[in-house]
Amino acid sequence: MPATGSWSLLLLSLLFWSLRLDLSLSFSLKNCTISYFPADANANGVAVECSSRKLAVIPNDVPRNTTSLDLSMNRIVRISTVDLRGLFKLKDAQFHNNWISHIDDRAFKDLKDLNNLDIAGNKLTELTDDMFEGLTRLETLVLNDNQISSISSGAFQHLLSVRLIELGENNLTQISDVVPAFKVPTLKTLQLEFNNFESLEFDSLSVGSSSLTSLDLSINPLTRFSLKEDVFPHLQNLGFDECFQDMKWEVANKTFLRSLDRLTLSGTSISFKTYKEMLQTTDNIQNLVMANMDIWVKSDLVSIACQISSLSSMFLTGNNLGFLNRHMLHSCSGLTKLNLFLNQLTGMSEDAFQPTPLLRVLLLSSNRLTEVPAALLTLSSLEKLDLSSNFITQLRCSDFHNLTRLLSINLQLNRIFSLKPCVFQNLQDLKQLYIGQNSFFIVGDCFKVHLWKLESLDLSMNEMTTIQEGDFATLSSLQDLILLSDKSYRVAHGAFRGLDSLQTLSLNLAFFPNEVFSWLPSLETLNIHLILTVDDVTVNDNPPFSNLSRLTNLTIKVVNICRVLITPNLLSGLKSLQYFWTDAFFTGSLHPDTFKYTPRLRSLKIIRSNLLELSPELFRPLKNLKELDLSNNKLRSLGFLAEATLSTLNFLNLSENELLVINETVFHSLPVLTYLDLSENPLACECSNSGFIRWAIENNQTQIAHGHGYTCVFPVSQGGNRLLEFDVLSCWVDVQFLCFLSTAVLVSLVLLSSFVHRFLRFHLTYAYHVFLAFLYHKRRRKNIAPHRYDAFVSYNMQDEAWVYEELVPELEGQQGWKLCLHHRDFEPGRPIVENITDAIYSSRKTICVISQHYLQSEWCSREIQMASFRLFDEHRDVLILLFMEDVPGHLLGAYHRMRSLVKRHSYLSWPRSARTIFWQNVQRALGTTEATNTGRVA
Ligand SMILES: *[C@@H]1O[C@H](CO)[C@@H](O)[C@H](O)[C@H]1NC(C)=O
Ligand SMILES: *[C@@H]1O[C@H](CO)[C@@H](O)[C@H](O)[C@H]1NC(C)=O
Ligand SMILES: *[C@@H]1O[C@H](CO)[C@@H](O)[C@H](O)[C@H]1NC(C)=O
Ligand SMILES: *[C@@H]1O[C@H](CO)[C@@H](O)[C@H](O)[C@H]1NC(C)=O
Ligand SMILES: *[C@@H]1O[C@H](CO)[C@@H](O)[C@H](O)[C@H]1NC(C)=O
Ligand SMILES: *[C@@H]1O[C@H](CO)[C@@H](O)[C@H](O)[C@H]1NC(C)=O
Repeated sequence: MPATGSWSLLLLSLLFWSLRLDLSLSFSLKNCTISYFPADANANGVAVECSSRKLAVIPNDVPRNTTSLDLSMNRIVRISTVDLRGLFKLKDAQFHNNWISHIDDRAFKDLKDLNNLDIAGNKLTELTDDMFEGLTRLETLVLNDNQISSISSGAFQHLLSVRLIELGENNLTQISDVVPAFKVPTLKTLQLEFNNFESLEFDSLSVGSSSLTSLDLSINPLTRFSLKEDVFPHLQNLGFDECFQDMKWEVANKTFLRSLDRLTLSGTSISFKTYKEMLQTTDNIQNLVMANMDIWVKSDLVSIACQISSLSSMFLTGNNLGFLNRHMLHSCSGLTKLNLFLNQLTGMSEDAFQPTPLLRVLLLSSNRLTEVPAALLTLSSLEKLDLSSNFITQLRCSDFHNLTRLLSINLQLNRIFSLKPCVFQNLQDLKQLYIGQNSFFIVGDCFKVHLWKLESLDLSMNEMTTIQEGDFATLSSLQDLILLSDKSYRVAHGAFRGLDSLQTLSLNLAFFPNEVFSWLPSLETLNIHLILTVDDVTVNDNPPFSNLSRLTNLTIKVVNICRVLITPNLLSGLKSLQYFWTDAFFTGSLHPDTFKYTPRLRSLKIIRSNLLELSPELFRPLKNLKELDLSNNKLRSLGFLAEATLSTLNFLNLSENELLVINETVFHSLPVLTYLDLSENPLACECSNSGFIRWAIENNQTQIAHGHGYTCVFPVSQGGNRLLEFDVLSCWVDVQFLCFLSTAVLVSLVLLSSFVHRFLRFHLTYAYHVFLAFLYHKRRRKNIAPHRYDAFVSYNMQDEAWVYEELVPELEGQQGWKLCLHHRDFEPGRPIVENITDAIYSSRKTICVISQHYLQSEWCSREIQMASFRLFDEHRDVLILLFMEDVPGHLLGAYHRMRSLVKRHSYLSWPRSARTIFWQNVQRALGTTEATNTGRVA
């Protein structure tokens, strides 16, 4: 028994140790989550998300095969050499907005595959030679918003593939600070905005010949930009946004900027004269941004720019332009794209665009126009027109009359209150029409003109409340129709007639109208916002979606909380449905038949629905379900999962329910579950959760998303403690171990007491001898064979007469066996114990003559003990029990071991008659040799 005790202690400590071990290797990450829906839908990617978790160090349990790691918005102060060890597969690493002031040399050494590294918004002051060692595949390095003032000459030498380096918002002051960047042969884009550069003088000595195509010097206190030699032969993009003061522009030869395609200028700090010089040395540009220049733009800078014959696109945003006249664009005949976003335009002269007949794109959004300018009529090449965010109240028939090439019109966010059919009638090429967030009440006949090619129509957020029969009847190419608003529509029976190509429809409804959707044979996505006006809404008995056999995505969101009565056949006919997302739609319960029509469903969301419980039958038809979101309900038990047979489920969100205790066995019935979210449940730090806790920590397949952050609500004494840190061992000790321990102690006590009872009472020393003898013979027995006797006969003195008168004559005389009888064959003077053991081990069998006297005699029962030792030891059936009389059960009961022997082994009762058969049976029992005999001889 002491041995068993120490074994269990050892086992216990092993278990404890393995628990500890598992904590550090656990599949659920401590401070991070492996995204189930990674933003970058890289099928084989492992995206680890640890953003905004107040982390001070980089977690050490990031899986080795992580491809994307987001540690942004934490409090990390340092990246050390061990932090990112072994992350050989990492492609994207986000460290922005931390407190990093130090990065160890070679900290990124293992990141051989890294493409993007973002360390913006930290406290770095210098970049050392070996900081970026190993990043041979890095393409983008973002270091904005640090305090970098020194870059070591070899800092970028290891970056063999880098194309973009962002060094904006740092404390760089002179060209020598950034020479290492200019020298990177693969670098295309260098962002140096918002630093402290004052004088920049580029020559071959400092820069060599750079491969840069894009250089941003915006928001610097530049006093001088000097290009003395042809060091930027490939430069296409140059930016000087919002520089603080006027500067000297010294470009020795126009040809130095021959590749320049785009020039970005803004602000009024730079003088008109300098701007003019700039424009005169950049005469190959096609794109020019002149933003927030106000007076300079008004003072004819536009004309100067338009001298550049290659110029095709001009952004004149934020220039406070109030009225556009012909003069402003008079020399801009080559323009194809003009952006006048965010000015104060109230109107324009009718000939304002006459000089620019080639315009294809005109962006006038965020101005103060009250009508569509008549000036547009001259733009017969216009393809894209943006008039959003103005004050237009009305559209006239002539407004777009001549714009027959238009492909896209954006009129969102105006005050248009009525639509006339004539407005769009000439726009036969129109593909996109956005006219949401206006104020019209009816569509009327507006779309009954022939917009054959219209593909997208956004009418959201208007005042419409009805959709009439045939409103969209001619829009046979329409693919995408948005009718969402804060009002619900009365939809006429044939409202969607003719929309044969419609794939996506979003609208509000007050109820599910009968057969309205039956006109939409191509519909794949339907988003419905239910805005209910009465308390109870009954769905018609006719299933509303029955003809939508191609629908894959259905979203139903109830906007105002009401009780919806839903018939079980709601989804009838949706045989292609894959995504069914509902928000506050089902209330309280679902009919078990709800999903029997949708066998292809792979993603099901039933959130904010007050669900108390679900029936397992509900999920039975869903053989392809991969994602199930039941968050924000009132579930208290997960029993339904155990029987739901969701054998394909990967993702399960049960956050914001009322789960207190979780029985982890339900997850055994979800064989491929990889993501489980149980956040925001009132979980209990109690032993009833210990099974779940251990499973959460130990299982290596299912991630318990945010698991290490779950805190307990119950019991009050544990309130706020972390669930996964609950000491399950105490439960184990409490319940199982105590159980085990107490059973063990009880058993040993019982054994011990019976031991004491049987042995000590008479011959403690005898017991000791029996044991020694047993050991001795056990060791010796191998040498003993062959047996000297056929059987050793153990009997009580009281039965001696029977033995000598009946047994011996029969077995020795008639049957010819050689018996060992202690009165006859024991060696005199030898310890009795040795004699017994010797007799037992040198006989093939032991015959016990059992009577009440026998059972009461100590010596005889020792013989049984011994024989049964041998029995267990040699696995041979050596014992033959001959019962002289019916022994009362309670007497036998004391001989535990014998009782089981009697149950299993040969025993024979001395009969009152038919003794011949008895002796034949004894003969047979003596005759069996090897092999365990479990058969009864009766
Ligand atoms: C990433 O590794 C984990 C275990 O280390 C494994 O379960 C998982 O399948 C791996 N993921 C990928 C995409 O290789
Ligand atoms: C990170 O996880 C560990 C282990 O669960 C926890 O002790 C620590 O508080 C967590 N850190 C943060 C910032 O949540
Ligand atoms: C910028 O660097 C200069 C020296 O190069 C230093 O004097 C100044 O304090 C730094 N400014 C900031 C905001 O770190
Ligand atoms: C500018 O450079 C080109 C070619 O490098 C050369 O032919 C031309 O003479 C130079 N012009 C001036 C004004 O130096
Ligand atoms: C509009 O187009 C018509 C011909 O389709 C033309 O006669 C008319 O002059 C155009 N309007 C303007 C303002 O250019
Ligand atoms: C359906 O929704 C899913 C999830 O948002 C999306 O990935 C898929 O592209 C959608 N399908 C269609 C046809 O819109």
